[in-house]
Amino acid sequence: MKSRILIAAVAIIVLPFVIQLIPYGKDHNNPLVISEPSWDSSQTRELFYRACGDCHSHETTWPWYSNYAPVSWLIAHDVDSGREHFNVSAWGVQKKNKADEAVEVVIEGEMPPWFYVFPHPEADLSDRETSELVTGLRKTFGSKIELEK
Ligand code: HEC
Repeated sequence: MKSRILIAAVAIIVLPFVIQLIPYGKDHNNPLVISEPSWDSSQTRELFYRACGDCHSHETTWPWYSNYAPVSWLIAHDVDSGREHFNVSAWGVQKKNKADEAVEVVIEGEMPPWFYVFPHPEADLSDRETSELVTGLRKTFGSKIELEK
């Protein structure tokens, strides 16, 4: 019985170190920017890079905690998946692109994700900035939904 507790204790202490050896999520890949959309204004671009760019472009800023598993795995997965759905750095090149849903996900408060905003206060846009971003996204990418007046 005692030895089992000891094994469990050692495992709990050692596990966080062992998982650092798993290579997934370590490469922090920022591929070359191929092409960008023609933004309606530099302000839209600026707001986008503040709130969305880390996951939807090749210009990701990788924070220090992205070096440590298991957080590194979650971040790598978000960036991979975010770029796969909507990527402003491979504009016109990457086929799959949900830019026309950008307005909708911002209005609905789905993007940026809350767990991203928490450690990125600069992405916590004010109401005014959010509406400026929505207008800019609509002008740049179009949208399937109509704004309620
Ligand atoms: C923390 C990373 C992250 C940030 C920051 C982020 N996104 Fe996303 N986004 C994702 C991921 C991951 C997906 C794909 C999975 C999903 O739909 O949740 C996604 C999906 C999307 C989609 C496709 C929606 C769909 O239904 O497939 C759009 C459009 C989008 N994001 C726009 C934005 C906009 C606009 C911002 C900034 C206001 C933003 N995102 C910020 C990670 C992010």
